[in-house]
Amino acid sequence: MADKKRETFGSKLGLIMATAGSALGLGNIYRFPCEAGANGGAAFLIVYLAIALLIGTPLMVAEFIIGRRSKSNAVGAFKVLSGTGSAWPLLGYLGVLCAFLILAFYTTVAGWTLGYLGKAAAGHFSGQDLASIQQQFSSFTNHPWLPIVCQLAFLALTAVVVMRGVKDGIERWSKILMPMLLVIMVVLCVKSLTLSGAAEGLAFFFKPDFSKITGRVLISALGQSFFSLSIGMGALITYGSYISRKDNMVSSAVGVTLADTLVAVLAGVIIFPAAFSFGIQPEAGASLAFTTLPMVFQQMTGGYFFCLMFFLLLVIATLTSTISLLEVIVATLTEELHLSRTKAALVGAAGTAVIGVLATLSFRAGSPLHIGSSTVFDLLDHATALYLMPIGGLLIVLFLGWKMKRADVMDELTNGGTLRTGIRKAIYLIIRYLAPVAIAVIFVSQLVMR
Ligand code: TRP
Repeated sequence: MADKKRETFGSKLGLIMATAGSALGLGNIYRFPCEAGANGGAAFLIVYLAIALLIGTPLMVAEFIIGRRSKSNAVGAFKVLSGTGSAWPLLGYLGVLCAFLILAFYTTVAGWTLGYLGKAAAGHFSGQDLASIQQQFSSFTNHPWLPIVCQLAFLALTAVVVMRGVKDGIERWSKILMPMLLVIMVVLCVKSLTLSGAAEGLAFFFKPDFSKITGRVLISALGQSFFSLSIGMGALITYGSYISRKDNMVSSAVGVTLADTLVAVLAGVIIFPAAFSFGIQPEAGASLAFTTLPMVFQQMTGGYFFCLMFFLLLVIATLTSTISLLEVIVATLTEELHLSRTKAALVGAAGTAVIGVLATLSFRAGSPLHIGSSTVFDLLDHATALYLMPIGGLLIVLFLGWKMKRADVMDELTNGGTLRTGIRKAIYLIIRYLAPVAIAVIFVSQLVMR
């Protein structure tokens, strides 16, 4: 398989944009505020920033290296790099499983974004008060079939783009629309900050109370940073396999981490001041983004237009994320089981749909789809972000730091000795020592200090 001609990204911008496309999505705009709201606001933000920069970027680089060196999918990469008879390819399968599980609950919320795009177009939020907007969220998520149709439509859209392949599908979409999303978010930020009562929300988000940092906050921030950066399960191994020998992986990883973090912080700066201003609890969870944002648009001149544009761009940001998740499955199925791209995309989407619909149904009031007190949706979210991704990330850094030869890793890091070594040696040391210890400590601390 190694000499088979593989696709590569067309340009360096292509790599950054595709990775940023994978990173930016519901994780930033929906999940980050949810997690920050539930875990003490500023305390969460500080831990999050430290983890994203210190562990996230090096882990991202580690995945790129594994992908580029092996030129292979998440499973094949470990076969190529660790030789026959090794157990490491199991780590790749763990990643594929993780992709299925994430995609299943991710498309629940992705479907909501489609539904909300329709609502924005139909002007459902214009002139409504908070009670009506909250009511709309619950009647939408409790509707007998609408959220499922939206979810399946989103999955179908994802499958169509993935069938068209890396360059035409994935790269082109990401390049144009990510910067536009940023512009709208800045406009929203300005509006949110000028609402009455905004200061209280800002204080919640930026004034840390260190006593709030618990094991739960640490693991939640770790899980959120992995989720938001798309690391710990092989998505970026897959994208790394499409990188050319000339790309600078370190600067790309730093750029993507900063952009991703910026968007998450912007989302917080939009949502918390607005939530406090409208009297929405910051712990509101699932409904937080979907009630706060329409309320902010309500208060703006040109709100209808901005709301429509925002949900359109959110759908697209979400799509570039679901694409990267499905691509993990498709690359593995085409290269390991020799399915055609089309078949692989259909199999992946159909498999996801089965679990995904359960996640969506579990949201309905009175749904029996609970295990203990958690919905199927929460279960999938927690299983992946709090367990599978930290374990996957730990094993990936161990693989790079301890299983691969140092000379090979440095060769990749420096593009065959053509790039400066200083910072790259530091990254290698972080991958070898700091990252595994930090991930392990956080993972264990959460198990013992509930
Ligand atoms: N990072 C995306 C977001 O923040 C979600 C996502 C895409 C993802 N691909 C992933 C998460 C791979 C984990 C692993 O919305």
